[in-house]
Amino acid sequence: MKIGVYLWTFILIVLCTDYTVTQQNDPGKFLIGAGIYDVTGQVAEIGFMGYAVPKQRGRGLLQRMRSRAFIIGDPNKEANRVVYVSVDNGMGFQIIKTEVVDRLNKTFGSKLYNDKNVLMSGTHTHSTPGGTGGTALVDITTFGFVKENWEACVNGIVQSIIRAHKNLQLGRIKMNVGQVDNANINRSPASYDNNMDKGEYPDNTDHEMTVLRFESIDGKEEIGMMNFYPVHAVSLNNTNLLVAGDNKGYASYLFEKSKNPPGTLPGQGKFIAAFGQSNEGDVSPNLMGPKCIDTGLPCDYATSTCNGRTEKCIAFGPGKNMYESNEIIGTRQFETAKNLYDNAQLFLNGNYMVDYRHSYVDMQTINVSSRFTSTKRNETTCQAALGYGFAAGTTDGPGDFDFTQSENSTNPFWQFVAGFLARPTQQQIRCQAPKPILLDVGLIKPVEWVPFVLPHQLFRIGQLYIVGVPGEFTTMSGRRLKLAIKQALQNTGAWTSDSHVVIAGLSNSYSHYITTYEEYQQQRYEGASTLYGPHTLAAYEQTFDDMATKLSLNQSVPSGPQPYDMRGKTFSFVLPPIWDGVPFGKKFGDVITDVNSSYKPGDTVRCSWWGANPRNDLFTEKSYLYVDRFMNQQWVPILTDDDIETRFLWERKGLDHSVITVEWNIPTTQPTGNDLYRIRHLGVKNNILGRQQYNAQSRNFTITN
Ligand SMILES: *[C@@H]1O[C@H](CO)[C@@H](O)[C@H](O)[C@H]1NC(C)=O
Ligand SMILES: *[C@@H]1O[C@H](CO)[C@@H](O)[C@H](O)[C@H]1NC(C)=O
Ligand SMILES: *[C@@H]1O[C@H](CO)[C@@H](O)[C@H](O)[C@H]1NC(C)=O
Ligand SMILES: *[C@@H]1O[C@H](CO)[C@@H](O)[C@H](O)[C@H]1NC(C)=O
Ligand SMILES: *[C@@H]1O[C@H](CO)[C@@H](O)[C@H](O)[C@H]1NC(C)=O
Ligand SMILES: *[C@@H]1O[C@H](CO)[C@@H](O)[C@H](O)[C@H]1NC(C)=O
Ligand SMILES: *[C@@H]1O[C@H](CO)[C@@H](O)[C@H](O)[C@H]1NC(C)=O
Ligand SMILES: *[C@@H]1O[C@H](CO)[C@@H](O)[C@H](O)[C@H]1NC(C)=O
Repeated sequence: MKIGVYLWTFILIVLCTDYTVTQQNDPGKFLIGAGIYDVTGQVAEIGFMGYAVPKQRGRGLLQRMRSRAFIIGDPNKEANRVVYVSVDNGMGFQIIKTEVVDRLNKTFGSKLYNDKNVLMSGTHTHSTPGGTGGTALVDITTFGFVKENWEACVNGIVQSIIRAHKNLQLGRIKMNVGQVDNANINRSPASYDNNMDKGEYPDNTDHEMTVLRFESIDGKEEIGMMNFYPVHAVSLNNTNLLVAGDNKGYASYLFEKSKNPPGTLPGQGKFIAAFGQSNEGDVSPNLMGPKCIDTGLPCDYATSTCNGRTEKCIAFGPGKNMYESNEIIGTRQFETAKNLYDNAQLFLNGNYMVDYRHSYVDMQTINVSSRFTSTKRNETTCQAALGYGFAAGTTDGPGDFDFTQSENSTNPFWQFVAGFLARPTQQQIRCQAPKPILLDVGLIKPVEWVPFVLPHQLFRIGQLYIVGVPGEFTTMSGRRLKLAIKQALQNTGAWTSDSHVVIAGLSNSYSHYITTYEEYQQQRYEGASTLYGPHTLAAYEQTFDDMATKLSLNQSVPSGPQPYDMRGKTFSFVLPPIWDGVPFGKKFGDVITDVNSSYKPGDTVRCSWWGANPRNDLFTEKSYLYVDRFMNQQWVPILTDDDIETRFLWERKGLDHSVITVEWNIPTTQPTGNDLYRIRHLGVKNNILGRQQYNAQSRNFTITN
């Protein structure tokens, strides 16, 4: 018996060793650069992008927003270069991409970096200040476009690419694929269960994470990591008022902290770790699933309602509150990524190593061949429209209106708006069926409501194919799209045993959701938000089949029609911040409540001051706060507003007074002793005397047992 165990262990070791040997292929030589830059917008007063809840407006900051850029090129061919950017924003937007590309053109010319080889994927955090989308439907809940936030995003992305460019060096890339368990669930299983091919997969969400490890050519220097894993960044729900990168942003923060030298402040290290979004359309991080908040009972399965009401059916967990859930889901992604990164063996290589294709496609007028449709008939896409389930929202953030998912109800308010927009034609109703049309958004009237010329983008880096899609693919939609690409590559003989395809979701532009044909029939939130009708996914499969074929045959694809340029055509009802004031006899930076003289690990340090509206200055690449520690006879900043342990809070008092509070949740692992600490806040006030920086500071304190 014992001998048997040893024997099996021995055989297993031999087998595993053998496996790693065959995996140890020759490294390809790539040109690699990585860069990071701050994209944080206005952290106060502005509505957050994602849940579409107007009252969810900024009151401060938990973590800064970053753009993380990776340039990967063929060292021998300047034209063969791609740029992958993961940005802490709700999604990629055309109005951002177009401006980013124009500015890159000004800096580098259009040969190196252009619209076709830059991919910009949003992490899908729902806790960023909005108003950056340009199109009406995404900006409506922030009362329009917010130029300062858009500028922060555009500038940060450009700067991150410039930094990556400056860091270019010869390097090699390893890839590893593994499982993240217990970090996502399907939030629309009633739709997923309709899929004919569900029996071919073990789970109703993808657990697979694909990790790329970037290192110098001799393997001695680690450059960065990027990965793809699908999960909505909605661990923080629509009651959170602090700007944050949600579970993806937190995972990046942890990974970068683990790789950069101790003492490196967040966002300032050389090693860059991007947690990229993928086919997360129906994927929630709220692992305990939806429950009726009043009764604790399960919600109605098909409609996600409690007693017919959507707003009572909410998903929670796994933490005791949303901030803990955020850290748990972020940590699980971080730990798996770290493990896959540390154990990566397979090199990306191949001749004709880096390449890309990009087309703009008018999504409203595609003839979809019977080869791709679920009906096995030739079909067409439709003029864009949203169904009633769209207004219901999801169990991650239910809508405030009287709608339910997958129901054909009518509501006078939306009927009115809909009638004002445009009345759907009989042909559109037939085309979109069974979607009951709530909003007919397929027209420019007077601003673009949703984009309809959409970017399709495909990168090849050695054996890896990255598919840039402008929206939220559900689990099964993503699987089918990957399969279509694999089949196209098999047909041309380009597919090898270690070829691999990943979806980069929410890239470059935003067109809401893409469900399968079967999921569409259910008309839950995701189906109702599939803009171009039941054959939208099949249309994607068709264009990507063509694109993958042409890429592997080294043929060109059509550039397609130019998307509508929304720059200069946006609307805004957002007022600028009012002038700052302080109570009579006070100055900006005067303490309201100071810290105690001593704390214990696990305590929360809190200090508040009379300050100003943080909208006056974004403090880009800086911080609104520092925790300083007195070491070797000098004050050393150890934490910034980007650290998860600190919170920067803003509160309006009276008409024009701002109370700034900084909190530090001292970790239980913090060393104790005689060292002095203090908390500083920096701000910019704006009043009749103009803009001026002010500094504020707490008393000294110690951390003792
Ligand atoms: C890049 O900038 C040049 C000079 O302004 C301009 O002529 C050219 O059209 C631009 N290229 C692209 C692709 O925008
Ligand atoms: C958000 O999460 C908090 C727990 O942190 C919970 O009390 C609250 O009910 C949740 N609200 C919504 C709308 O999900
Ligand atoms: C789609 O097919 C119709 C009918 O055959 C044709 O008139 C139309 O031009 C086609 N559209 C596109 C975009 O190819
Ligand atoms: C779809 O259209 C193509 C080209 O027009 C045609 O060859 C094919 O037979 C059609 N398929 C069906 C199922 O009608
Ligand atoms: C939805 O409502 C419309 C208009 O009232 C009606 O024509 C249609 O048949 C309904 N659809 C379903 C699936 O009940
Ligand atoms: C692919 O096509 C481009 C443009 O036509 C050409 O410059 C390049 O040499 C081709 N590459 C290979 C590997 O054939
Ligand atoms: C700070 O001091 C106040 C007043 O003495 C006390 O009530 C409070 O509990 C202290 N806070 C901490 C975290 O020690
Ligand atoms: C805080 O500590 C520093 C360093 O020892 C010292 O210079 C400073 O005077 C202290 N501040 C107060 C208010 O005691």
